[in-house]
Amino acid sequence: MKNHFPEDFWWGASSSAFQIEGAWDEDGKGMTVADYNSFQKSEAQADTKVASDFYHRYEEDISLMKELGMKTYRFSISWARIIPDGDGKVNEKGVEFYNKVIDLLLENEIIPFVTLYHFDLPFSLVGKYNGWEDRRCVDAFEQFTRVCYKEFGDRVKHWQVNNEQNLMVRVNERMNMYAVPAEEAERVRAQMDYHMFVAHALATNACHELVEGGKVGPAVSSTMTYPASNKPMDIWAAKMNDNFKTNYALDMYCYGDYPGYYKEYLEKTGISPVRQPEDEEILKSAKPDLIAVNYYRTLVASYLPETEEHPFGTKINEIDFDLYGYFKIEKNPHLQASEYGAQIDPMGLRLVLNEYYNRYRLPLIITENGLGTPDALTEDGKIHDDYRIDYIKEHIAACNDAIADGVELFGYCPWAVIDILSSHQGFKKRYGFVYVNREDHDLKDLARIKKDSFYFYQKVIEDNGLSD
Ligand code: BG6
Repeated sequence: MKNHFPEDFWWGASSSAFQIEGAWDEDGKGMTVADYNSFQKSEAQADTKVASDFYHRYEEDISLMKELGMKTYRFSISWARIIPDGDGKVNEKGVEFYNKVIDLLLENEIIPFVTLYHFDLPFSLVGKYNGWEDRRCVDAFEQFTRVCYKEFGDRVKHWQVNNEQNLMVRVNERMNMYAVPAEEAERVRAQMDYHMFVAHALATNACHELVEGGKVGPAVSSTMTYPASNKPMDIWAAKMNDNFKTNYALDMYCYGDYPGYYKEYLEKTGISPVRQPEDEEILKSAKPDLIAVNYYRTLVASYLPETEEHPFGTKINEIDFDLYGYFKIEKNPHLQASEYGAQIDPMGLRLVLNEYYNRYRLPLIITENGLGTPDALTEDGKIHDDYRIDYIKEHIAACNDAIADGVELFGYCPWAVIDILSSHQGFKKRYGFVYVNREDHDLKDLARIKKDSFYFYQKVIEDNGLSD
């Protein structure tokens, strides 16, 4: 196979603050929505209190990143570490921590690629404003991003405003929609989503204003949907599933307005968000420089007509929801699923990269892609994760194909650099190249152990992409 990766390709790996840092209330950090939710599930799985203990072990972890050969590290800054109550005073200790991390990365020639908000809204904004439902949360976020650009923008030139807004907004827990009555849920969700788009636009413009040479863009949870049959309505349903789960958001980031089908859905279901007169200008003026793509799996959809019992726009389920009048999610009999249910499909990655590049003509970087599985620490003190090696190898080949197709892909950052706290399975489900020696309810010694996939990925980076 011919190697199409450019010489300066950004080989990297990813993480997010609440999933690795721990130190959840140390040095002045405030509680976040991610902390709060993890505490609700503490009996069943690990929570954010210690996570992978990166806060105390970042030096060791960054030296592992160096050893791995990473050119970039995609990580997030915890808003509540910088501004503990979301819109009040800046916490100098928080700024100090990220300064140390950024400086050490640069000393090791690793480019910091920073996400400003990865599912961890400061919890205090929930009490004050019900989070994103209120316009004041937009102002709070803009202020936070300005603090980050001013404090770190002399060294950090690459930013993602948020992680997977399009997925986050579908999950009640992430949007802290506990007290919202069921009949109000979709209206509130649409308002929160809209406010996050305005916040995204303001943060994009602030980056261009404050960071010299700064590049910024969204990180989306990608959706690639196959039609369940070649019936025209199934093909339309598959397209609408892509549209409703990702493309409407990308259109909003890149063009500053909802596409027609989305406006129609909002209007017909009576949940159109309240807009401010100045928003149109804000949304239209913000121009992302890149798109960060998170890719785990593909979906299959068939047409789902509305019924008397389920009128137009009725939604079933959270993440992979069905939408009456549009689409229903089906299983793909041609793909194998991982132990935790995601259907593994490297070709889907090639397709989705082509799709986004052709739609938006912006440089793309993969900021998440990985296999979440239980890993066994064997008697030889190692982790033989051949399954992860196969997975990564096939997805890297798909990237190589996409580049050959003409896609401007400038980086690949699998999830995750080290084992992280998985949202629904704690440390039972692992993603890292480095094993973190702890269980959900037993912290053990938190030692770092390189998995077989670490050595594999190290060789990939050394060979700039394709090695056997
Ligand atoms: C992505 C998120 O959607 O999925 C990550 O950005 C998350 O934060 C990853 O960890 C895997 O999901 P899970 O549920 O296994 O943690």
